[in-house]
Amino acid sequence: MESRTAFQSKTIMTDLVLPSETNPINNLFGGELLARMDRAASIAARRHSRRIVVTAAVNHVAFNRSIPLGSVVTVEAKVSRAFSSSMEVFLDVWIEDRESGECIKANEAIYTFVAVDETGRPVKVPELIAETKLEKERYDAALRRKQLSLVVAGKMKAADATELKALFI
Ligand SMILES: CC(C)(COP(=O)(O)OP(=O)(O)OC[C@H]1O[C@@H](n2cnc3c(N)ncnc32)[C@H](O)[C@@H]1OP(=O)(O)O)[C@@H](O)C(=O)NCCC(=O)NCCS
Repeated sequence: MESRTAFQSKTIMTDLVLPSETNPINNLFGGELLARMDRAASIAARRHSRRIVVTAAVNHVAFNRSIPLGSVVTVEAKVSRAFSSSMEVFLDVWIEDRESGECIKANEAIYTFVAVDETGRPVKVPELIAETKLEKERYDAALRRKQLSLVVAGKMKAADATELKALFI
């Protein structure tokens, strides 16, 4: 199976924050941002695998900065590592200053997607090639994050999470 670069999965979604998508203090509702990130990440995972993909886990979300009504929000998603059937997808969220046009990082998140066949059974995905310094950093740490996610989900024994444990020794 032919390997693909992280860049080949890159997905960018830009949209406005409308009144129906805000909380009582006029900032973007967290669930709305999660949904936008899920959509962008699923497209990135589909571009990498060229298969049907399903969200298996939300590994990390940091709502570092609130996003006001009327903001222009850009969600950028890229596959950071592919395993057997699962793919880790990194998301960076930016808001655009209206006057300067400058993009400010607002949030980030990490999702896990699994490629499946028409019956929902996991199928193999191509390997991912990390090219830039940031892509390589994210690639290197992805196995530890996968192990942590599986341990937290009760799908892996902590004793078997070798690379994760090595962080604490
Ligand atoms: C995701 C799903 C396909 C996994 O199926 P499964 O029977 O657990 O299959 P497996 O145990 O073989 O796991 C498949 C892959 O998912 C990974 N995985 C499963 N749960 C995970 C978790 N919580 N965190 C990280 N990876 C996970 C496994 O490590 C494995 O990865 P690999 O093949 O790359 O090594 C299945 O749980 C599912 O269909 N879930 C519902 C998905 C869905 O509907 N999402 C939308 C939510 S509304």
